[in-house]
Amino acid sequence: MDSIGSLGLQQREGAPSCPQEGLPCPSNSSELVQECLQQFKVTGAQLRQIQTSLLDSMEQALKGQASPAPAVRMLPTYVGSTPHGTEQGDFVVLELGATGASLRVLWVTLMGIEGHKMEPRSQEFVIPQEVMLGPGQQLFDFAARCLSEFLDALPVGNQGLQLGFSFSFPCHQTGLDKSTLISWTKGFRCSGVEGQDVVQLLRDAIQRQGTYSIDVVAVVNDTVGTMMGCEPGLGPCEVGLVVDTGTNACYMEEARHVAVLDEDRGRVCISVEWGSFSDDGALGPVLTIFDHTLDHESLNRGAQRFEKMIGGLYLGELVRLVLAHLARCGVLFGGYTSPALLRQGGILLEHVAEMEDPSAGAARVHAILQDLGLNPRASDAEFVQHVCAAVCTRAAQLCAAALAAVLSRLQHSREQQTLQIAVATGGRVFERHPRFLSILQETVMLLAPECDVSFIPSVDGGGQGVAMVTAVAARLAAHRCLLEETLAPFRLTREQLAAVQAQMREAMAKGLQGEASSLRMLPTYVRDTPDGSERGDFLALDLGGTNFRVLLVRVATGGVQITSQIYSIPECVAQGSGQQLFDHIVDCIVDFQEKQGLSGQSLPLGFTFSFPCTQLGLDQGILLNWTKGFNASDCEGQDVVCLLREAIGRRQAVELNVVAIVNDTVGTMMSCGYEDPHCEVGLIVGTGTNACYMEELRNVASVDGDSGHMCINMEWGAFGDDGSLSMLSTRFDASVDQASINPGKQRFEKMISGMYLGEIVRHTLLHLTSLGVLFRGQQTQRLQTRDIFKTKFLSEIESDSLALRQVRAILEDLGLSLTSDDALMVLEVCQAVSQRAAQLCGAGVAAVVEKIRENRGLEELTVSVGVDGTLYKLHPHFSSLVAATVRELAPRCVVTFLQSEDGSGKGAALVTAVACRLAQMTCV
Ligand code: G6P
Ligand code: BGC
Ligand code: BGC
Repeated sequence: MDSIGSLGLQQREGAPSCPQEGLPCPSNSSELVQECLQQFKVTGAQLRQIQTSLLDSMEQALKGQASPAPAVRMLPTYVGSTPHGTEQGDFVVLELGATGASLRVLWVTLMGIEGHKMEPRSQEFVIPQEVMLGPGQQLFDFAARCLSEFLDALPVGNQGLQLGFSFSFPCHQTGLDKSTLISWTKGFRCSGVEGQDVVQLLRDAIQRQGTYSIDVVAVVNDTVGTMMGCEPGLGPCEVGLVVDTGTNACYMEEARHVAVLDEDRGRVCISVEWGSFSDDGALGPVLTIFDHTLDHESLNRGAQRFEKMIGGLYLGELVRLVLAHLARCGVLFGGYTSPALLRQGGILLEHVAEMEDPSAGAARVHAILQDLGLNPRASDAEFVQHVCAAVCTRAAQLCAAALAAVLSRLQHSREQQTLQIAVATGGRVFERHPRFLSILQETVMLLAPECDVSFIPSVDGGGQGVAMVTAVAARLAAHRCLLEETLAPFRLTREQLAAVQAQMREAMAKGLQGEASSLRMLPTYVRDTPDGSERGDFLALDLGGTNFRVLLVRVATGGVQITSQIYSIPECVAQGSGQQLFDHIVDCIVDFQEKQGLSGQSLPLGFTFSFPCTQLGLDQGILLNWTKGFNASDCEGQDVVCLLREAIGRRQAVELNVVAIVNDTVGTMMSCGYEDPHCEVGLIVGTGTNACYMEELRNVASVDGDSGHMCINMEWGAFGDDGSLSMLSTRFDASVDQASINPGKQRFEKMISGMYLGEIVRHTLLHLTSLGVLFRGQQTQRLQTRDIFKTKFLSEIESDSLALRQVRAILEDLGLSLTSDDALMVLEVCQAVSQRAAQLCGAGVAAVVEKIRENRGLEELTVSVGVDGTLYKLHPHFSSLVAATVRELAPRCVVTFLQSEDGSGKGAALVTAVACRLAQMTCV
């Protein structure tokens, strides 16, 4: 083509020709224009089809349908509520991607009082084309430089600034400050960014820049900023609609409908990313030859087909393609084109908006066309206006169909027949294009007549909203810091655990030698684990755990058969007089005997009594002190077997033969030892905690004899009662101890066992509430109630399969209303408390097995530990954490944990059986 004159006009080649394939070139100009514009007409039926089809895609995406991939992404944004109006502080906002090739930095002050506003300061920077298409690092470095330049001009320090990042591209968000770019859209195509966390890339760039210490607190899509910044009218604004360079919307969805989230309550803001909608069935009929050309020449061919009919980046381009076609056909501009008309991006949204404006007048249109290097004839202005109107009308109508789909979705999810809703609108197409909003409104009314929609223009192009999200994110981050600080003392290092193990070893040795020690190391007079030759019928009592049980244990050649019944011990009995307690026990035995048809028989009885006792023989146990919830008077210092016999005496009708008294750890070891001869340790982690193990008799100072073994009841619950654990004790342990019935006692037990973990968690939650970190700082009466937070809740809350829904259910049962952030924090508190318990328990077991190994002078010890107790058995991770800690701290011991299935009553019966056999032998 030849250039003519200074206007740079280009002459058409020969007769009117139609470069756009398939379009005839009628000679009548008006007809040709009409025919061309006819393609941009979208019927009501087509709009409805787009609305339905988009709604289908949205619902498939929400359900997490993978294949075929839904046409829209429906990305959760981690924004869970619309603003309260109470957010406050100063924030820096960086906007990238909303408005073409420019980047905006704002300084926003939130006043914390609804309705009070301070105008933000802002500055816009043009991003050079080579930066938009160059390496990612260059783009983020550019952004960091713009930030510095903007801040340099403000009277702010260079420390502790909090930034909200508005990044308007499709991203997978995994947190308020974590967002991976899926793909560039609009005019951007920087290398090395797709698949990366854009927050990290920005942080790195700010650090490279080095001038300001800026914390990137939140990242949001522009639609979210638009929605969040909307001044609430009658009700909250729950849809954000952007038509700028690109287009998209977000809205508040019910969390339970979002398959990828583990949430069943509340709402979450979803970015629809409707720009990528390209369902062939729905869009096919409305796509023109110009849309295909535009797509073909774009940076992201085949992608964002819907956006390319609506977004501001493309409206000018579509107009340009149509005008160029009409010029080439000889219908416009006397058949001449210009470099601007032929160059991609030659006509901008601004040109289109201004030319389409009915008030613009022919002279203004002329002037603009001349600026574009064209030489319009008198009739051209009107034609050009028609073209602009057709392209923009279609865009507004398509946008309305998409918005109508969102509104239908809201109606479905809220199960409402009619909907009253506010939509925040933002973007240059709304700002610059007067008719866009009115066409949009009209069309929405036609497509979603049951919705009463008010459109509210966004404040500061969404900057205010980004600041709101940032304020919330900053508050959450501050809360996280406080949470971490609070939980830090629960997190024990390997060194701390090794120190506990070493201290335990030292206390064991001292206890065995009869020196002052918090470990009493009580001899049990059990000298051997069962050998399988035990036989007979026995009664057993099991007192001291969650349940009081009476058992009939039949030990026969075929194995052990157990019949048992649980009886309750009311708290008033456990903490009443000793006589009352033992009378109650005997009543239960009598009842059991009657039910089992054993009345009148005097079976040998083994008594599992799970409290510290000094034993001088198998059937003698002097209670040293009560533990756990027991506190019956006149028992401490007494022989428990005597107390039982006296109660039997008072109940004249019965005769019972009490043969042995056994601690539950010993019962458990014996019970497991019946199956596995390697079982030489007994461990209980239930209401209380304790361990026993087979010690060399020569090491036990208080029992005569140098050969053989004796089972030692360590009474490790009291470990640390001499103050040796004070380094590890937290303020919450101190509160739990102080409020207990035995302050200063059983300090190790109080950090580990089921009776106390719920209480530790409760005290921790109270503290976090007082810091304002939990439950919006609202203390409730319920949470202040002792023992309201059961240890079984820890097991339930930490069970992976139930996750956060479970936390909510439990806490709401306790009358605590919580947000999803609260639920997560409560889970973390439970984890910290139970993890410490399991690790301390593991350090104890490590001390025990190492002692056995060294006693025997072995390089490696293979040993089994019989374990019982509700906490150990019910908690989802406790047992594996104990085992892991033992592996770490006692690497030369191969330790197998055997869970006792029958409780320690069976073990007590076995001890009784051995005693009876020995007694018979001595009689013979
Ligand atoms: C076993 C015993 C009880 C013992 C209990 C510990 O089952 O039979 O005597 O005290 O374990 O568990 P718990 O969780 O009930 O305190
Ligand atoms: C992006 C969206 C954005 C929209 C409007 C689209 O190209 O994918 O994330 O919200 O443009 O800026
Ligand atoms: C008692 C121990 C008992 C442990 C487990 C502790 O409170 O002192 O004797 O073994 O609880 O039940």
